[in-house]
Amino acid sequence: AAEIQSELTNVLVTEEQILAKLDEIAAQVAVDYEGKDLLLVGVLKGAVMVMADFSRALPVSAPMDWMAVSSYGAGTKSSGVVQIRKDLDTDLHDKHVLIVEDIIDSGLTLSWLLENFASRGAASIEVFALLRKPEAAKVVVDCKYVGFDIPNDFVVGYGLDYAENYRNLRDVAVLAPHVYS
Ligand code: PRP
Ligand code: MN
Ligand code: MG
Repeated sequence: AAEIQSELTNVLVTEEQILAKLDEIAAQVAVDYEGKDLLLVGVLKGAVMVMADFSRALPVSAPMDWMAVSSYGAGTKSSGVVQIRKDLDTDLHDKHVLIVEDIIDSGLTLSWLLENFASRGAASIEVFALLRKPEAAKVVVDCKYVGFDIPNDFVVGYGLDYAENYRNLRDVAVLAPHVYS
C-alpha cells in the first residue's frame, strides 16, 4: 500500500462531517418513508461506505440491495458507457426505491440507472447522493437528498476511488494532480 498523504492535496469532507450529515438525512428519510415499503439500492462499489453508515443511521429497518455498474474504469473521466456488472436481486415492483450513491459527477451513471429502473414497476424512485459536483453536470439528475455540493476536483476516499485505490480512506480528500497526470 502506498504512502497516502503525499498523494492528497487537502481533506474536503471529514468523516465526522459525513456522519453528522448522514444522521440528518436518515432522520428525514425515516419521516418521508413512514409506512412505505422502502428498499435501499446501493451502487457498487463507490456507495459501500455511505450505505453502511447511512443504513445504520436510519431509525427503522430497511432492506438493501446492490447494483454494480461502472463507467470510469481506471481513468478520471466518465466514459459515458455504463456497464452492469451485477444486477439487483430484488423485484422492484411496488417498492419505494431509494438509490444510495457516493457521488454525482457528470450525472451519467445515475441518469442511466434511473432510466433502467423506470420500467421495473417501482412505486417510487428517489436518489440520495452523499456528494454532488454541480459544475461537472452533463445531465441533470433529480436528486432528492444531497449531502454536500463540492467543487469540480477529483476526490477520493469514503468509497470513492482512483483506479480502485483510496476507497478505504475515512475522509473525502482531493487527489493531488501529480498522481493522475
Ligand atoms: C463513480 C461513482 C458514481 C459515478 C459518478 O463510479 O461511484 O457511481 O462514478 O460519476 P458520473 O456522475 O460522472 O456518472 P465508478 O463508475 O467509478 O464505479 P465505482 O463505484 O465502482 O468506483
Ligand atoms: Mn460508483
Ligand atoms: Mg470509480
